[in-house]
Amino acid sequence: MSETESRLFDHPSWLYLLREFDTLYRHGSAGGSRLIRAHRKRVRDTLSMVIDANPAITLRAPEVKPVTAHLPRALDLGERGVVGSMARALSRVAPLLTWEYGYEKVPKALAQKYAYCEVLGPRGPVRSDRLVLGFVLFAPRTTYPQHSHQEIEESYISIAGAWSENDTAVHAPGSLILNRPDHEHRITTADLDPCLLAYAWVGPEERLSAPGMKLSASRKQRMSEGI
Ligand SMILES: [Fe+2]
Repeated sequence: MSETESRLFDHPSWLYLLREFDTLYRHGSAGGSRLIRAHRKRVRDTLSMVIDANPAITLRAPEVKPVTAHLPRALDLGERGVVGSMARALSRVAPLLTWEYGYEKVPKALAQKYAYCEVLGPRGPVRSDRLVLGFVLFAPRTTYPQHSHQEIEESYISIAGAWSENDTAVHAPGSLILNRPDHEHRITTADLDPCLLAYAWVGPEERLSAPGMKLSASRKQRMSEGI
């Protein structure tokens, strides 16, 4: 069978992983927020449509990054937590994941401590132009510098580890953060354990296929460049 003829239903482990995303976005709380409720609905409705169409699946070459040495610990912690079924479903496909940076220029320190992998999106492995789903992994004591996403609405749901966004709160496994388009955000992770977040992106198709990820200029950089 050629790669393009391979379909989601031929790969049960990927299908079950997507069902875990469906469960997270269907049964989790919106905390009374109308915007979060609408975002959850948008993600799960789009995902249901994608799954029903039995989309093409194109397995990319697996790739690791330095931070993926922390993945087994993150999965162990995740399995013990409130979203254990997602951690277990992810562990089934862990050897197949393509971990990447997503930035042309990634700061040296960050390259050791961060990577993400897509599980559904324009580039696969499960193909969709309308939604991106994936995971971000951080080592302990990481600062993921300030950035925003043009036209893309993003949510993170934590699977393992404690983390904070914009120094506003500490988020435990199971909690969701919504970053609306252009919202500047910066993430920090706890001292001892890695942090694994599931994420979803919804937005215009042309933007999802070319998100143009850029870290916002630091104050030092802005000063040196006179901006
Ligand atoms: Fe983000």
